[in-house]
Amino acid sequence: MSIEFNAPARTWTLSGGGTSYVLHRDEENRLLHLYWGRRLPSDALRWDPADYFSFASLDLPVNILPHELPVCGSGWYGTPAVGIRTAGGDEVTDLRVVSATVDAGKPPLPGLPATYTETDEEAQTLSVLLRDSVTGLEVTALYTVFEASGAIARSLRLKNTGSSALTVTSLLSASVPLWRSDLDAVHLHGAWARERSIIRVPVVPGDLRIASARGASGHEENPFLALCEHRADEHSGCVWGASFVYSGSFQALCHVDNFGHARLSVGMNPEVFSWLLEPGETLASPEAVLVFSDAGFNGMSQQYHALYRDRLARGSWRDRSRPVLINNWEGTYFDFDEQRLLAIAEKASGIGVELFVLDDGWFGRRNSDNCSLGDWKVNLEKLPGGLTGLSAKIHDMGLRFGLWFEPEMVSPDSDLYRAHPDWCLHVDGRPRTEARQQLILDLSRPEVQDYIISAVSAVLSSSGVDYVKWDMNRNMTEAWSVSLPPERKKETQHRYMLGLYHVLETVTSAFPDLLFESCSGGGGRFDPGILHYMPQTWTSDDTDAVERLKLQYGTSLVYPASSMGAHVSAVPNHQTGRSTSLKMRSDVALSGNFGFELDLAKFSAEELAEAKEMVSRVKELRDLTRTGTFWRLLSPFEGRYTAWSFVSQDRKQVLLCAYQVLSVPNTAPLRVCLRGLLPDAWYEAKDGRRYLGAALMQQGITVSLRGDFSSSVMLLKAR
Ligand code: DGJ
Repeated sequence: MSIEFNAPARTWTLSGGGTSYVLHRDEENRLLHLYWGRRLPSDALRWDPADYFSFASLDLPVNILPHELPVCGSGWYGTPAVGIRTAGGDEVTDLRVVSATVDAGKPPLPGLPATYTETDEEAQTLSVLLRDSVTGLEVTALYTVFEASGAIARSLRLKNTGSSALTVTSLLSASVPLWRSDLDAVHLHGAWARERSIIRVPVVPGDLRIASARGASGHEENPFLALCEHRADEHSGCVWGASFVYSGSFQALCHVDNFGHARLSVGMNPEVFSWLLEPGETLASPEAVLVFSDAGFNGMSQQYHALYRDRLARGSWRDRSRPVLINNWEGTYFDFDEQRLLAIAEKASGIGVELFVLDDGWFGRRNSDNCSLGDWKVNLEKLPGGLTGLSAKIHDMGLRFGLWFEPEMVSPDSDLYRAHPDWCLHVDGRPRTEARQQLILDLSRPEVQDYIISAVSAVLSSSGVDYVKWDMNRNMTEAWSVSLPPERKKETQHRYMLGLYHVLETVTSAFPDLLFESCSGGGGRFDPGILHYMPQTWTSDDTDAVERLKLQYGTSLVYPASSMGAHVSAVPNHQTGRSTSLKMRSDVALSGNFGFELDLAKFSAEELAEAKEMVSRVKELRDLTRTGTFWRLLSPFEGRYTAWSFVSQDRKQVLLCAYQVLSVPNTAPLRVCLRGLLPDAWYEAKDGRRYLGAALMQQGITVSLRGDFSSSVMLLKAR
């Protein structure tokens, strides 16, 4: 059983994988958090709840009780998980448990992305109903525990059962006290072209807050925060991770109180969110996914990878080998016509590429980024045969055809804007702030959602498109929809996200065979929310092989290799000016969804031959990199070497990828200790050498890396 209720102790114990999470309904019907950590022995269920505590009993003042769903105004002083302003203007709430149920499986989260089950045996869900007797606010707290991993998916459903309007001012999908603060906090920080670097800082009394108010999860922070023991590393020590399944503004917090207790929270960002709940109305929070590991960060990441790859991402491409693609963006930018594209496609087809992706610039009068977003009509000057003609020619070469869109945007210089100047996010009487010379369509409005669905669908159903790159290239300004009344204006950003999710749900369901890849100026919206609709995301606009080591390593803290777009681009690299070998670029890119992002027509015969070999090797390895267990072995943030590996589910194959940035003379060769192998099995390399699994893990394997920007990719198979 995953969820057990101990009636005398009034505790619910949620257990799965190596994790337990314990809740308690106290005698005053408050919902308290007792435990989240290493799986408890089953006889723990008969313990008295006070035994979980460092305190002798639960008779604690309200301000230090371990509230599971903290609220404000009645004795607790932190950030409330549910903050409500009443019609009278006060912000006092007091939630008490009314009832609880346990069900098999996991209910959907309507209108929002969420993890899911395929059979009821995979998970159980606890639903706890709480009520504030004065306002009539009801909150259902949902906890799904996944049997295999112990990951816990949480969300809240609010309902106003009272007779006056309420305003939700704070909404955290998870807010969990940890009973200690001798911890570090780890998050993913960055900027455009430098997304998701791993940041680790000691937790200190007070608040650590990471957030986005941009209307997108953003390049700067990722909706993820973990706490870990000081001693925790990639392979050992306890880690508590919180990931937010949402693509808009968010906050993640670690508050350490004056008793040395850390509280880990993720949820909506109150700077740009509030929600009016009229009597009878409901609101669901996005989902938070909590993962505990006592095997360090790899243990945490492997749980996220399996869950997000297999039970968050959906659709017909979830379990399929991803096509090797070529994208023309860095090859041509806006400077292309049909002939130039076909020349690239022909070379691509000759080396075994499977998908040709036409990026920005195929529509309207778009020859630079200053116009035409919203006018999704092909530019016949560039493509005289239209998209249909081009895709037919591409298909004739044996390639699939993919197309770029930026559907959420409008250029002021576009027919769409001239027809509907009020459809963009703006505030009447203020200038409309442009970024990249574009404005954002107001997706909180149903008519705008309908326009996007029909404009994109019209192209997809008529043009032989097999793949879509869904881009989004700026953050929100003036995000106070003119279509909403004043008391609902602060709902705009969340309504936008709900509108976007509706559009994505509709379009991806209408075209179930298409492969969708999300993008946002590179990795500006690389989050679990978007992954639900599109199984892969363009990791970053930085395609430099050296920078990619950090990008892919950092991204892997939460996201599986199957979600990362990774392309070989030209040298000198367009973002860094660095030149690396084709081998190094390819060896880095094969750890994600492999592609090219350059003008293959400029390749020499030798380069084409080398690229052809790489493509055939990628095809041989891509199912292992997509489905294998990913191990981070040496960090690019800590030295000149990077190493990671993919181990097949039966542990009989391992792909070791190792890289050196700058070489140093007169040093011993690199030895890398592998992980997750069968200790008794003999693994054979391509050159016929055999290694014992235990020795590979304990003593390691020597890797030959010579010269700056060098790489080694080694496949070992158990015989
Ligand atoms: C930003 C993306 O990250 C790039 O790959 C490219 O698609 C451009 N947008 C096109 O405008």
